[in-house]
Amino acid sequence: MQMSVGAPLGVFDSGLGGLTVVKALRVSLPQESIAYFGDTARLPYGTKSPATVYQFTRQCLRFLMSLRPKLLVVACNTASALALAELRGEFEVPIVGVLEPGAKAAVEVTREKKGGGGKRGGLIATEATIASNAYPAAIRRLDPQVQVIGRACPLLVPMIEEGREPTDVIVGLVLREYLTPFLELDISTLILGCTHYPLFADAIAQTLGAGGGGVKLIDSAKQTALVVREQLDTMNARSTSSGAPPTRPPLTCYVTDQGQRFERLASRFLGESVGQPVWVTPEMLEL
Ligand code: DGL
Repeated sequence: MQMSVGAPLGVFDSGLGGLTVVKALRVSLPQESIAYFGDTARLPYGTKSPATVYQFTRQCLRFLMSLRPKLLVVACNTASALALAELRGEFEVPIVGVLEPGAKAAVEVTREKKGGGGKRGGLIATEATIASNAYPAAIRRLDPQVQVIGRACPLLVPMIEEGREPTDVIVGLVLREYLTPFLELDISTLILGCTHYPLFADAIAQTLGAGGGGVKLIDSAKQTALVVREQLDTMNARSTSSGAPPTRPPLTCYVTDQGQRFERLASRFLGESVGQPVWVTPEMLEL
């Protein structure tokens, strides 16, 4: 396939969460235009079976491929954990996931426990990501000394997609329920193993509070953006547009459900207006 340097990066998530990766990409690669796909009609992926996650992810990536991107980013931990390995060979452009970069970022900062006895980190993610064991496996490959203790947090994605504020009393209750067990585990890091979770990062840090003893939160977005930049350099495919306003390259969003809520929340999360997303109908996914 003929690759154009001016082609967009295709970024995919089940919903809004991948915008945390887009935000990092906009900082790290301001010259690149981005086509963002949120499968908002079928979210959450994190409660679904590996076969379904694979099928949905494949359809969404095939749609993104119709926009002729130079690279795909699977900005979804669930899809990265369950579908990426199988899908890699199927597309003619490189695919960057978020799980390996997240694991690398975690390994770099996870420290020895206070009383000695190895390095220990926590992991919060969707049910499917936890069940896949993909994070502990990726971390073990990088540093067998790091022990990872994971917990599924299925209520967080729906609350974020609904636009609940981190200060919302229900969010506080749910975070306490999920995070309290970590307070006794002497972890030095907590991996936010779902691209939605950085939206609650402050509330998570606050919940871990004094009892967390300075637990460092790991968000894979920056590390993923770095990997994308390196990959574009390897391909000699960095865009040469100025990237400076008012010539900022476009960010076009595609969603599978009607887009008003997406547009409202996306702008809030990204700090820039995304404009009205393009609605992708079920027929358009059957490519
Ligand atoms: N944001 C996604 C992740 O990183 C998936 C959330 C969901 O659809 O359950 O896992």
